Amino acid sequence: MLHSTSHCLLGFINDYMLVFASMENESKKYLLNVFGCQMNLSDAQRMRGILNAEGYSETFVEEEADLILFNTCSVRQNAEQRLIGRVEALSSLKRKNPALIIGVGGCVGQNKKSELLQQLPMLDLVFGPNDIETLPSLLKAAAKKPVSGAFRGEGHFDGEMADGIVLERPFSAMVSIIRGCTNFCAYCIVPYVRGPEVSRKKDELLAFIKDLADRGVKEITLLGQNVNVYGKDLGYKEGFVSLLEEIEEISGIKWVRFLTSHPRDFTEEAVKRIAQLSKVGKNFHLPVQAGADRVLRMMNRGYTREKYLKLIEIVKKHIQDVSVTTDIICGFPTETEKEFQETLSLVKQVRYESAFMYYYSPRPGTKAAEMDGHLSDEEKKERLARLIEVQNVISKEESAKQIGKVVEVLVDSKAARGDNHVAGRNLANRTVNFEGNESMVGTFQQVEITEARNWTLSGRLI
Ligand code: SAH
Ligand code: SF4
Ligand code: F3S
Repeated sequence: MLHSTSHCLLGFINDYMLVFASMENESKKYLLNVFGCQMNLSDAQRMRGILNAEGYSETFVEEEADLILFNTCSVRQNAEQRLIGRVEALSSLKRKNPALIIGVGGCVGQNKKSELLQQLPMLDLVFGPNDIETLPSLLKAAAKKPVSGAFRGEGHFDGEMADGIVLERPFSAMVSIIRGCTNFCAYCIVPYVRGPEVSRKKDELLAFIKDLADRGVKEITLLGQNVNVYGKDLGYKEGFVSLLEEIEEISGIKWVRFLTSHPRDFTEEAVKRIAQLSKVGKNFHLPVQAGADRVLRMMNRGYTREKYLKLIEIVKKHIQDVSVTTDIICGFPTETEKEFQETLSLVKQVRYESAFMYYYSPRPGTKAAEMDGHLSDEEKKERLARLIEVQNVISKEESAKQIGKVVEVLVDSKAARGDNHVAGRNLANRTVNFEGNESMVGTFQQVEITEARNWTLSGRLI
């Protein structure tokens, strides 16, 4: 009853606003394409908030859009190429609707800057990940002529509030705790496009998370390129674990996940303290990148194979039912077959639940791109194929170990596989499909695992 009344009221207010608001914004629709890592997903939460406040509404149909935005990733060359192709493909739409604004934000925007406007004549707007809050004025300017953002070199958290973000699922939010990266791994473009590490002050963060909890958020994912150094730039000691400990006390927040950990900066003390926290996710994503010491040194990763394996041992010892996942790069410049074999043997030793595996992609401006001894694409792809084969067998075997276990899952959505199924994830971030209905979305359920396929599990509601 209350629901339908407020609906009418809103409709009424909207009719009035239509009369008074200029036609400019009221009916405008945006389509947002998001690529890359979780940082971009979290930035997209903010972009949606800003666009909604500007009077836009979201659409998923290109032909309906007045604004098409890309939030982009620059980490590998083919990601960049695909983006260029996608923007070029919008030419005909732009011809049909010259008022359409097309914008590229995110890491490709920051990497290519105004050059992109020259390269892509159909483009109206380029900006970087640290310019998002200037979107309203950029959009106004872009309606008149092509514009670029300021390409701010440093991340910041200026005025970010819980009511300024729009969540795809109202019970789950991504929370950036540290932006940028100062590690300069030799292959990686992220420090160049995102700037140096900048942490959000702890009191601000805790207020933000409490506010999210008050708005019905049950699960948060804390984000950073290296969450383990959270607060170092602000002079905090063991900042990350202390933050987790304080979030544990926020009622309303039931689960806390975090991403990404850096093996060099994860201490045994931190692992032990995390083991005491009941709300904190049991998925440790520990990107190893390579298995041979010489390659790790050239990559500037700051740990040896032995030190990495020791950390895995500590994690498996202290965290019950942990799932360990990783990122791996094959074919770094000068990597020999023998060194690649060391990556394979490490994968077999650790037995990751799953892994993101890539072949090395040279990024102009990074140290590795300038190195001698680049491998051919064929060699790199061949190594990647062999690695994927080994890991797939392990993923299947590790998933099969879940059969018979009863796990708690937070239901995310209706499952892709059929009408009466839903999909959720457990605290170890494993995806579980089971029979259920849409009213379960956003609730916690106990599920017994009955079947395993690679990373995805199927189960039965208890
Ligand atoms: N901060 C995270 C990773 C962010 S980038 C970390 O330190 O682990 C995500 C992944 O992309 C990296 O872990 C790496 O495996 C991969 N990657 C980064 N640069 C790459 C490149 N030039 N070629 C291939 N893969 C790359
Ligand atoms: Fe890139 Fe290394 Fe920073 Fe990760 S830690 S974002 S791989 S430079
Ligand atoms: Fe890609 Fe930028 Fe993330 S380069 S991996 S979207 S920080």
